Amino acid sequence: MTYSLILSYDKLTLSELEEGEQMLVQSAKEAASGAYAPYSKFGVGAAIRLRDGRLFTGNNQENAAYPSGLCAERTLLFYLGAQKLVPHIQALAVFAPRSEGPVMPCGACRQVMYEYESLAQRPWILIFAGGETDLVYRFVGVDNLLPFAFLWRPS
Ligand code: THU
Repeated sequence: MTYSLILSYDKLTLSELEEGEQMLVQSAKEAASGAYAPYSKFGVGAAIRLRDGRLFTGNNQENAAYPSGLCAERTLLFYLGAQKLVPHIQALAVFAPRSEGPVMPCGACRQVMYEYESLAQRPWILIFAGGETDLVYRFVGVDNLLPFAFLWRPS
């Protein structure tokens, strides 16, 4: 038997997002300027909104020992994890100034997003943008980004 999957997302322009989501993208863009990316020179910013409206930002942090660095998404997600705020996450935006179009998260970040999202009551809103273009990709739910994710819960 062969199965097919459908992954859904919206391709929009920035102005088609609701105001709060536009602001989240703007926060991610501003956060990218704080990236520590002297090796790749590819700064990335991430912004998260909690259900109570609080905003948090992060960016990629590289290291001369390359694999020791971390993407913007996980830098921010692990910070929120450390603050026990993960169950309150509502929306995440990512922006990379040097990306040709919307920047898409790496597989490791998608895996972390998947597990953290499972701790919230509702699917996350995920918005990706980048570079000079107004194009944004908007996803609802990490399963649209990572089918067949690994999820294991100790009993
Ligand atoms: N990077 C992120 O921070 N997020 C992404 O979604 C893609 C890649 C970082 C990792 C590294 O510091 C640089 O971008 C180049 O890969």
